Amino acid sequence: MCGIVGAVAQRDVVDILIEGLKRLEYRGYDSAGVAVVDSQNKLHRVRRLGKVQELSDAVQNEPCPGGTGIAHTRWATHGAPSEANAHPHLSSDNIVVVHNGIIENHEELRGKLKTLGYVFTSQTDTEVIAHLVHHEFKSCDTLLSAVQLATKQLDGAYGTVIMDANDKDKFIVARSGSPLVIGYGLGEHFIASDILALLPVTRRFAYLEEGDVAEITRQSVSIFDENGNAVEREIKESDATHDAGDKGEYRHYMLKEIYEQPIAIRNSLAGRIIDDSIDSDVFGNNAEEIFKSIEHVQIIACGTSYHSGMVARYWLEEFAGISCNIEIASEYRYRKIFVPKNGLIVTISQSGETADTLAALRKAKDLGFKASLTICNVPGSSLVRESDLCFMTKAGAEIGVASTKAFTTQLVGLMMLTIALGKFNDVNQEKLKEHTQALLTLPNKIDEVLAIAPRIEALAEDFSDKNHSLFLGRGRQYPIAMEGALKLKEISYIHAEAYAAGELKHGPLALIDDDMPVIVVAPNNELIEKLKSNVEEVRARGGLMFVFADVDSNFVSDETMKVIDIPHCEIGIAPMIYTIPLQLLSYYVAIIKGTDVDQPRNLAKSVTVE
Ligand code: F6R
Repeated sequence: MCGIVGAVAQRDVVDILIEGLKRLEYRGYDSAGVAVVDSQNKLHRVRRLGKVQELSDAVQNEPCPGGTGIAHTRWATHGAPSEANAHPHLSSDNIVVVHNGIIENHEELRGKLKTLGYVFTSQTDTEVIAHLVHHEFKSCDTLLSAVQLATKQLDGAYGTVIMDANDKDKFIVARSGSPLVIGYGLGEHFIASDILALLPVTRRFAYLEEGDVAEITRQSVSIFDENGNAVEREIKESDATHDAGDKGEYRHYMLKEIYEQPIAIRNSLAGRIIDDSIDSDVFGNNAEEIFKSIEHVQIIACGTSYHSGMVARYWLEEFAGISCNIEIASEYRYRKIFVPKNGLIVTISQSGETADTLAALRKAKDLGFKASLTICNVPGSSLVRESDLCFMTKAGAEIGVASTKAFTTQLVGLMMLTIALGKFNDVNQEKLKEHTQALLTLPNKIDEVLAIAPRIEALAEDFSDKNHSLFLGRGRQYPIAMEGALKLKEISYIHAEAYAAGELKHGPLALIDDDMPVIVVAPNNELIEKLKSNVEEVRARGGLMFVFADVDSNFVSDETMKVIDIPHCEIGIAPMIYTIPLQLLSYYVAIIKGTDVDQPRNLAKSVTVE
């Protein structure tokens, strides 16, 4: 949420900053801005409402020469999207600030700063940082100390970069709750919310930790922890490729990412299954010792990641014989929790930076869970660093705001966790082997499903004039119905709801008419006959059905029901397989409706605010 890029170099940096913003646009795209200090200490600031391209065009007419600069792409929290609210914000024409996060005590600070004579020009919480730093700087020798004093007064979350236009070749960065990563170049340094922004200029990165403040110049990086002590943060070489953020020949990132699922899953499996078995070491060095004693799993996550956790609850109880609860992180973090004996807290997250999930993990750790594990796609992210164990999904960069390949690779990680935990319980070990073998067949099976894309594209026409839809599934497929509904609503803006099919008669059946398409997920499993009865209940009331069904499950198309055959698959991998056609369906419906598929309205990826 909100993207930050900064650079301090001998060369002009504006192109680096704009390219970085384009690569971070998935984090927010309602307005963007850049500020650069030139060799005469002159500040050039350009801001625009709308996407980064607007800013990029504006910079062609209003050049921003200079070697030190910061830039920002915004996802509005305080104050509507507008040029005045776009970052960077200024105090007294020299202190320049970009910020990701929310300053919770901004009203109180705003009041105090106003009495000190500061005039606010925006409605943002960020502007208080600019004025506060300016105020503290009056009684400090260095910008670094001014920022250290100012950040002590901030409540809430921030990743912020602050420049003084009177002192070029330097900026100060501070992190509390919102990620920032330093990029190391040759005689130049960079800062960003995500390494993706900096891949064109460096591969060497160090993540700031909570409470860190750093002074970054062309030649040096000096980092201080929350107590002001000088600290080192490990510099790591990233193996992400420069083109990680490219769309290639695809029309949208989302489509590219849907088609990348076979390779993403192959990468997530590679080297992790040996002789039909999954070594606990895949989750960390001491995972085996921890897994042996685990009696309960508590999963916390948000959005799509929450849906993968819902599938895992079925798997863990059924296949691994271990009790499991799952809860939305934003609920979990604020309620009284009963801590189970020998409990494992599992967080699931693409970004590893979701504010609610991170806060819920911290709470669970404080409450005394035996151990924590995260299933995550971003190495070095906060959830990875703060968990005892981790399973890194190898989905690669996911840029489309609607999560696709992150979801199916999370499911792979969760199935591996199920198998690894099941080893220590009194469950059918042969069945676990079957699930392990099935995982290896998954990439090819997904390729088979992707081959039916033209059929799904044709089907999408039936949805383009609809305002509502209902998704149905049972058991392990109920969360897949929920994920299908989420995908459709977020990118096509069609209202979509998911129900466990058995729940229909308890209310939602009243909604059924010929204007309400009903999408059914129907693999051939132990619940298929029950599901068929639910389908008949809808049909009897005039509903128009779209059934994604196993070729063997004997659904027949007629004027009220379109059946889309899905290749037969083992029950353990069915949730991943049935996700694919639902992703494709939402994509094609969105294309017909002409929405912004990769950057749907009001949304952003990596939700680092509450
Ligand atoms: C939906 C989507 C979101 C995220 C949610 C959690 O397509 O992408 O619902 O799944 O914001 O994000 P992560 O997985 O990064 O914690």
